[in-house]
Amino acid sequence: MKSGNHPIKILTLETTCDETAAAVVTDSLDVLGSVVATQDALHQKFGGVVPEIASRAHLENILPVIDETLRRANITLADLDAVAVANMPGLAGSLLVGLIAAKTLALALQKPLIAINHLQAHIYACKVAFKDELADGDIFPCVGLIVSGGHTSLYRCDGAIDFTFLGGTIDDAAGEAFDKVASMLGLPFPGGPAIQKAATGGNPKAFAFPRSLLHEERLAFSFSGLKTAVRYHLFGQGKVSFAALPCEAYSESEIADVAASFQEAAVDCLVGKSVQALQQTGLSTLCVGGGVAANSRFRQKMEAAAQDRGFRLYIAPLALCTDNAVMGAIAIERYRAGLFEPLDLDVSPGLLRTNA
Ligand code: KG4
Ligand code: ZN
Repeated sequence: MKSGNHPIKILTLETTCDETAAAVVTDSLDVLGSVVATQDALHQKFGGVVPEIASRAHLENILPVIDETLRRANITLADLDAVAVANMPGLAGSLLVGLIAAKTLALALQKPLIAINHLQAHIYACKVAFKDELADGDIFPCVGLIVSGGHTSLYRCDGAIDFTFLGGTIDDAAGEAFDKVASMLGLPFPGGPAIQKAATGGNPKAFAFPRSLLHEERLAFSFSGLKTAVRYHLFGQGKVSFAALPCEAYSESEIADVAASFQEAAVDCLVGKSVQALQQTGLSTLCVGGGVAANSRFRQKMEAAAQDRGFRLYIAPLALCTDNAVMGAIAIERYRAGLFEPLDLDVSPGLLRTNA
C-alpha cells in the first residue's frame, strides 16, 4: 500500500444495471474524473431495462468510458493505485462486463482489485457529497435508505462497510413502480423523472391510492398493490394488457392528477418507513441513495420530516443518486483496511435481503 504525500488514486467501475460509469477518486474523496454513459435511449421502447441489451451496450461503452475518465482526471493507468468494481448486486451480464474489465486492468497493472457493494456505495455517495459539511466528519452511524429501480431497502449502517438489513420491499422496488406507472400513462422511460414532470400541477389528493404496510410496525415496503390500483383506476379490472389500452383517452390534467396521486402515495411510504426505522433503531441520521431519491416531491417531504422530527438528513445531489461511479469511492475504505480480492472474484447478482 502506498503512503506519503501523494494522494491514493483508485479507478472505480460501475456496470450493475444500465449505466456504464467510471471515476477516478482519491483518498480525500476528491473526484478527479467521472463519466456516466447512459443507455436510456436503448431501453426506452421496452419501458424497462432489457438485460441482454444492457450487457451488450456495456461491452461497447466500457473502454471508451474508462479512457475518457482518465483523460478528464489527467492521469494515465500507471498513476492508479488500485482498480475497484461493483460486483454486487445487479444484472449478471452487466456486472460481468465491469468485473472482467477491472480484473484485466488489475492484472495488467499489477494493482490491487477491490470489490464494491453497489448498495453500500449508494449510501456512501452521501459521504462524498457532504464531506466538507460534516461536522464530525462522518455520516455513520445512520439509517440508510436505498431506493432505486431494483431496490427499496433500509439498513442500519454502523460504518461504510458494516450494514445490517432492517427491511425492504416484499415485491416491487419503488423505482420499478414509477417506471411501470409511467408506461401505463404513456410516459417515456425512465418513468421516475417523467412521472415527476407529469405530476407538476396535478392534485396529489385527487385519488386515494393505497399506502401498503405504512401503518404496520414492521420495516417493509410493498408497491405492487399501488401499481395495480393505478392500473385498475385507469383501465378497470381485468386481464387486458395496458400496453394495448388507449391512455390517450385521458386529458393532460387527468394524467397529472394520477401521476401526482401515485407519486404522493409512494413518497408517503418511503418517508413513513424511514421515520419508523429511525425510531426503532434510535439513530438520528438518515442517508438516502438511489435513483428515486432524485424525486423532488420525495426530497421535499423528507426534508419536512427531518425538520419536524429533528433528524439529520443527507440525500446526495441528483447526479450522485442515480447510478454513477463516484459513489464507488467507498473503495477507499476497503483500500485502507487492506481488503483486496483475488482475480477469481465473481459477481453476486442476487438482491440482498440480508446484511450487505
Ligand atoms: O439507482 P438507479 O439509477 O438504478 C438502479 O440501481 O436501479 O435508479 C433508477 C430508478 C428508475 O426506476 C428511475 O425511474 C428512478 O430511479 N428515478 C426516479 C427519478 N429519477 C430516477 N424516480 C422518481 N423520481 C425521479 N425524479
Ligand atoms: Zn443503483
